[in-house]
Amino acid sequence: MIKNLIKWSEQTFVHLPWRKKRTLYRTLVSEIMLQQTTVGTVLNHFERFLEKFPTIKSLAEATEEEMLMAWKGLGYYRRAKNLKLIAEKIQSDFNGKIPEDIEILTSIKGIGPYTANAILAIGMDKRALAIDANLERVIARLFALKDSKGTKLHKHIHHLFEKKEIFSEKVSARALNEALMDLGRTFCQARKASCDICPMNKVCLSYKEGNPLHYPVGTEAPKSVISFNLKLLRVIIKKGQKILVYKKSNDEWLSGQYEIPTFTLQSEDKKCIQYPILSKKIKFESYPMIKTGITKYTIENYLLEVTEEQFYQMNFPKDCVWKTLKTDSENYSTTTLKSLKKLKIIGS
Ligand code: ADE
Repeated sequence: MIKNLIKWSEQTFVHLPWRKKRTLYRTLVSEIMLQQTTVGTVLNHFERFLEKFPTIKSLAEATEEEMLMAWKGLGYYRRAKNLKLIAEKIQSDFNGKIPEDIEILTSIKGIGPYTANAILAIGMDKRALAIDANLERVIARLFALKDSKGTKLHKHIHHLFEKKEIFSEKVSARALNEALMDLGRTFCQARKASCDICPMNKVCLSYKEGNPLHYPVGTEAPKSVISFNLKLLRVIIKKGQKILVYKKSNDEWLSGQYEIPTFTLQSEDKKCIQYPILSKKIKFESYPMIKTGITKYTIENYLLEVTEEQFYQMNFPKDCVWKTLKTDSENYSTTTLKSLKKLKIIGS
């Protein structure tokens, strides 16, 4: 049955770029990208990133800014910084060669058990299981494992796997891991199990029990996502072919990117301290506006173009710099680019 699953996976997902031209470096990059980001999004960025940083060395030697620019669109920028730190460590301590030992891999800051096992199983085709939420769910369902979700269940799965009580068939570890990942993404989703068309339905114990969605046990009811409305003033100050921007610091959203000066106009969440409050009351409702969103915030961005003098009177508390409008070489935030397009300061 596992062989059928693998066949389905290999036939259906041959096109995924990280499944072509395998190297440990490509596996490391793709597995970090695929954490918290969908396959569809990673598809659009993977090869471009690899062209820019084809080796551990090139990534280790890049500036953080170059790296963050290439990561744009993938979100969760902490992962990008992590990946760079991993590359630096491997370059300095292992001469640029990714270690092939699980203990050594997990001793590197930023490489956790998931990434280390993915390098072993997917990168090196060694018997290992890279257990993320997808694999945890798929395996809990296949074998009707009743441990509660999280550490306990992971330990149980690793134990069964080591003792060959599960997946004892002689198949490629790489193919097995990828097929289980594919299953979790398609027929065996958290809230939707399409068992009638699943290649594993004949052996799936939770299907036999008739309750696949009960696994993994302890799955919380979906938390109602609290969303806050936030209204921001985005200020555009232009001088010739330059605009005034500031660099987002480490403790801010989109750290490392350049953004046009931004003030909070109204916030439902009083704890939101990303942008200073505009002290002067203004009638912003008729300004050009674009909608965006980040984490739990739904944002209305009101756009205002002012002169340099007018801007200094607004007392924006951060250091600003003049940057060119060359949007392909400056690391501007997506909202900054959208704002400039909306005001036709740059083309679309
Ligand atoms: N999710 C995490 N790693 C993956 C991979 N290698 N292929 C598809 N989905 C994944």
